[in-house]
Amino acid sequence: MKLFLDTANISDIKRLNGLGIVDGVTTNPSWVSRDSKGRSFKAIVQEICEEVKGHVSAEATAIDTEGMVKEAREISSWAQNVVVKLPTTEAGIRALKLLSHEGIKTNMTLVFSANQALLAGKLGATYVSPFIGRLYDAGYDGMQLVRDTVRIFRNYGFETKVLAASFREPREITAAAIAGADVATIRPEQMDQMIRNPFTDAGLKSFLESWEKMGNK
Ligand code: E4P
Repeated sequence: MKLFLDTANISDIKRLNGLGIVDGVTTNPSWVSRDSKGRSFKAIVQEICEEVKGHVSAEATAIDTEGMVKEAREISSWAQNVVVKLPTTEAGIRALKLLSHEGIKTNMTLVFSANQALLAGKLGATYVSPFIGRLYDAGYDGMQLVRDTVRIFRNYGFETKVLAASFREPREITAAAIAGADVATIRPEQMDQMIRNPFTDAGLKSFLESWEKMGNK
């Protein structure tokens, strides 16, 4: 499973990309607004695209098809590895059809049902993003949506990748991998939680104490 960082924070992206574990990045208007520091959307996206070799999702903000297509053409010209995020609405689905024919890479976002994912897969989206955490927040089984989507795409040989999003807890990352998600996009602090484990730290401390008892430094 690939791991994407779900952020527009360039310091976090650089720090974790240096470990060699970042396969791509997803942004959304909330992350961009949080980390813009007065810079333009284009400048932020281009900086991330230069730092990370894999796909970087940047979201269109128009809500009508014509506006989405116009924005998507513009965003896709910013970098070779940019992917345009579109909401999975009727207007977004119409835009997806047109953009798939133009060969523009797309990430259908805000997916909350397997039927929405099926439609995006049929129209050749590059990614679909089921939002696990927001479903759990509302009392639904978020991971079941990932399992269903993976099964449907395998049944019909769709090339669209399942990009699990909106994680709340580290164990959901493991569950997404077991479910067969192609990608999990996670917050920088969640990637930190994957790396660090208090049992590892405690074990290392006790081993080093034993070593020092032998007179080693
Ligand atoms: C995915 O692309 C989204 O940016 C993200 O995962 C949303 O997560 P949230 O539900 O924590 O806002």
